Amino acid sequence: MLPRFILVFTSMLMLAQPVITLAQAVNPAINPSLYKLNIQTPVISTEGMVATQDKIASRIGAQVLANGGNAVDAAVAVGFALAVAHQSAGNLGGGGFMLVYLAEEDRTIAIDYREVAPLAAHRDMYLDEQGNVDIRKTRFSFASAGVPGTVLGLHHALSNYGTITWQQAIAPAIKLASEGFLMPYDFSSQLHMYKNRLSRHPATKDVYYGDDGTPIAPSELFVQEDLARTLKMISDEGPDAFYHGEIADMIVAEMERGEGIITHEDLATYSVRERETVRGTYRGYDIVSMPPPSSGGLHIIQMLNILENFNLSKMGAGSAASYHVMAEAMRYAYADRAVHLGDPDFYDVPVGWITSKEYGAELAAKIDMNRARPSSEVSAGTPTPHDSPNTTHFSIADKFGNVVSNTYTLNLSYGSGLMITGAGFIMNDEMDDFSAKPGVMNAYRLIGNEANSIEAGKVPLSSMSPTIVFKDGKPFMLSGGAGGSQIISATLQNIINVIDFDMNIAEAVNFPRIHHQWKPDKLYLQPGISPDTQAILRQYGHDLSVWEYFGRTASVAIEDGVFFGVADPRAIGGSAEAPDQID
Ligand code: GLY
Repeated sequence: MLPRFILVFTSMLMLAQPVITLAQAVNPAINPSLYKLNIQTPVISTEGMVATQDKIASRIGAQVLANGGNAVDAAVAVGFALAVAHQSAGNLGGGGFMLVYLAEEDRTIAIDYREVAPLAAHRDMYLDEQGNVDIRKTRFSFASAGVPGTVLGLHHALSNYGTITWQQAIAPAIKLASEGFLMPYDFSSQLHMYKNRLSRHPATKDVYYGDDGTPIAPSELFVQEDLARTLKMISDEGPDAFYHGEIADMIVAEMERGEGIITHEDLATYSVRERETVRGTYRGYDIVSMPPPSSGGLHIIQMLNILENFNLSKMGAGSAASYHVMAEAMRYAYADRAVHLGDPDFYDVPVGWITSKEYGAELAAKIDMNRARPSSEVSAGTPTPHDSPNTTHFSIADKFGNVVSNTYTLNLSYGSGLMITGAGFIMNDEMDDFSAKPGVMNAYRLIGNEANSIEAGKVPLSSMSPTIVFKDGKPFMLSGGAGGSQIISATLQNIINVIDFDMNIAEAVNFPRIHHQWKPDKLYLQPGISPDTQAILRQYGHDLSVWEYFGRTASVAIEDGVFFGVADPRAIGGSAEAPDQID
């Protein structure tokens, strides 16, 4: 904890000498750029940090750290807590990706616990008689569910890299579900917003709505008995309860009542994959991220390789030039995503080529600083041989030097909206992340092709981008987020805002973002970008459009043993919590 006198002393220094920052007063050796007091400041601690999209979950994670647990212990406790408190994306019925950096071994592990297509899945399973994609089936039916990976993924992380017991990690979530919590404003408002989706199935409706159809009101106690019982079974019996036992029976029974295709065999054969991370460098920093079947890591590195060829810092944060060049980099990356990305166990993804500096330079040379190239003139590149090798994110760092960057999801907010009767949790609709038909957009308006076609046992392509930036070999920044296709561009801009524009992590996350994904050929803008800048972007030829949301990230920066945390302000309810600053 930073002693109060230092804060007072620092305030005095700030008045007298604005260039002296809080961190300089605490530790003059620290790079002042991360700490400078500006319009926004992060949460600061010397003991560790937990940043998530939910305050209750962040505090549960911080408490685990305060008890002496490591970042993985906190991550698993947070993963289960979010499944209770942040149900639009926190889950038992979904899947995700976790990056774990172990300080003692100086090693980063990429855990892929994303859903896989059930064994009965096949390429044309969502096409109607006319050959059109049936969107109700791909997004809002039990047939939209992939085989969930969260329970086994969290178990894999804890048993291999954690220090506390499985029961200790789940206990806070069981307490939260059985004793309840006061319904947060944003959760209640979402129950209004998604009422149609969440009222279609009695199991979901009974949990969220009264007999008269009224959603649970803000500040009402929200108790979830079925979910508490499910969590208790998982705690007592381990993941077997979910994949082989009573919960598996409930899932399969629900599938058989509905139009789902997940079987006992699908659940029993589900396994977690450890994969090689994807790696790149950017202006002397090392970028380590999630490999395919996530597209995020690959394309963040690809775009950084393109952008390294431009002097962003000289262009200035928020300038039309910087937004333009980022948009053009995004255009090329998302064009490649549409063609070359899929599950690497089923499709030969050209990782080395996409993440190479040479390809980055080649694409950079095509960017005209005075003109937006229409997407009709841009297509995916042709790989050359190369020999280098609604969703929620949380970032956790412990005082031992370990970090976790984790993103998991049900896909759309509240997934399919369909709960497993008696089990109290919602099933994902992750199958919509496949390309149900080449060239047809998914829920995030993303196009896919052969690489991401549906096959039994295949993992749908993801945009989830848990990322760790290293400086001088040590974790320097953790980021990632929610927001479908915008996860990739949001995480990219967080990194650029820190490295190129010298912002502290709070400024970096809060700064207005843009997004371009090749098709549709639109430059999406967040409110807050000045009309003058917009006018210049229009002159370059961009077709501007305001989109509803721009990725919601949770990020931590670390330097010289000081931790800085921030939850994205684009969603209500997130928080960064430090183990020495909880009640
Ligand atoms: N379900 C969103 C993603 O994984 O990209």
